[in-house]
Amino acid sequence: MVRRRTSIHGEWSSRWAFILAATGSAVGLGNIWKFPYITGENGGGAFVLVYLLCIAVIGIPIMMAEVMIGRRGRQSPVNTMYNLGIESGSSSHWKWLGWLGVVAGFLILSYYSVIAGWALDYVFKTATGTFSGANAEFVSSTFGGFISDPARLMFWHTLFMLMTMFVVAKGVSGGLEKAVRFLMPSLFVLLIIMVGYAFTTGEFMRGLAFLFEPNFDNLLYKHEAGGEFILNTHGEKIFTLEYVLIAMGHAFFTLSLGMGAIMIYGSYLPHNTSIAKTSFMIAGADTVVALLAGMAIFPIVFANQLDPGKGPGLIFETLPLAFGSMPFGTLFGTLFFVLLVFAAWSSSISLIEPAVAWLVENKNMKRLKAAIIMGASCWLVGILTVLSFNLWKNVHPVDFWVFKNKTFFDVLDYLTANIMLPLGGLAIAIFSVWIMSRSSTSDELDMKEESLAYNIWYFMTRYVTPLAVLFVFANLVELI
Ligand code: PFF
Repeated sequence: MVRRRTSIHGEWSSRWAFILAATGSAVGLGNIWKFPYITGENGGGAFVLVYLLCIAVIGIPIMMAEVMIGRRGRQSPVNTMYNLGIESGSSSHWKWLGWLGVVAGFLILSYYSVIAGWALDYVFKTATGTFSGANAEFVSSTFGGFISDPARLMFWHTLFMLMTMFVVAKGVSGGLEKAVRFLMPSLFVLLIIMVGYAFTTGEFMRGLAFLFEPNFDNLLYKHEAGGEFILNTHGEKIFTLEYVLIAMGHAFFTLSLGMGAIMIYGSYLPHNTSIAKTSFMIAGADTVVALLAGMAIFPIVFANQLDPGKGPGLIFETLPLAFGSMPFGTLFGTLFFVLLVFAAWSSSISLIEPAVAWLVENKNMKRLKAAIIMGASCWLVGILTVLSFNLWKNVHPVDFWVFKNKTFFDVLDYLTANIMLPLGGLAIAIFSVWIMSRSSTSDELDMKEESLAYNIWYFMTRYVTPLAVLFVFANLVELI
């Protein structure tokens, strides 16, 4: 058995502190902004079903593996993978998996901050009564006007990045723990109020049906975002697993998996904590938030004859309609966007924590300096996303393969969520069950080697996850 390490960055004050921070990382724009719009674009029910399946059979086992590896290594993902690679008698090259995560986190934060900036702007728009009594046309044109103004987007992107740098510089425990403890439950309550409003729109059942009634044609055949099937020259529908990939990629994204964020939070986890139980709780909370967001949004979409496949603007073009007409809408709306900003904030911190921890460990840098360097570079890359929605909305930087016709934002999103995170997850799965020994994983997971729970985890991580990811990737590169 290996000597247990401690982390130089400190430890969570308790099991709850970890659960809250990891839930803070998981619950974010992915649940409330991204889940509804990609569900809308990809045809609803069947997509949601695959997403839920991926959470259960891939997400939870990988989350356990990441936390376990983090706690075993107790350092930034790059150094943890380096050390554990050597310790398991494999190779120090496993550090590249850590690097893949650092780059993915960096790229995600570059656009995440821009979208969080939208939410910041909407705090003020809603608070000043912009949406009182507004109709769908007004709400749509307000959003259109907003994203076509690069200076405004830059302003909020800058502010949000500064907020992120500020917390990261101070270290991830402390303030974050307290904030999440209070903000997460508030967000939850507000979402339930929104679902309550959606109930009154007259299209609640249609919204539910869209979310939960699977139509596999919408999932397995190419179609326009949210609409018509695309046909080949013989007039037949074209089979694809791309939407399955998007559902799987989103399972990784929403649980913050595949890039070391949960690994590094695991590295601050005290020893006496059950990794399995906490992983279930985090994944459960995350899923409930996403489903509530969907249940709040789609009835509003249908009640106002909006297009569910609208894309990234979906929540900004639907929820204000609710705030404009419900009692105390200005108050609830403002609160909602404030909480959304906080949810994004607690996620963005975990996106650069692996990079910052590496700079602190390897370059002997102060947290403040490391946070400034990483934040500033990420901010610069974020400008590409800002411009994707206006001046460069017709610029397609990598115009081939899955990146065809995609803007900078679309490319960054697709590359990170649908390729880098599943690839990172695949490597984490392989490392934890093909490279690490059963005795060290069962020891760190605190499960008996012969117990059923351990063997289920082992089986899922050894076979199900790698095969699922490889199968979907194989379709993407047209091998199958
Ligand atoms: N899970 C976050 C969300 O759903 O908004 C986004 C995210 C955070 C992805 C941290 C990846 C990550 F490492």
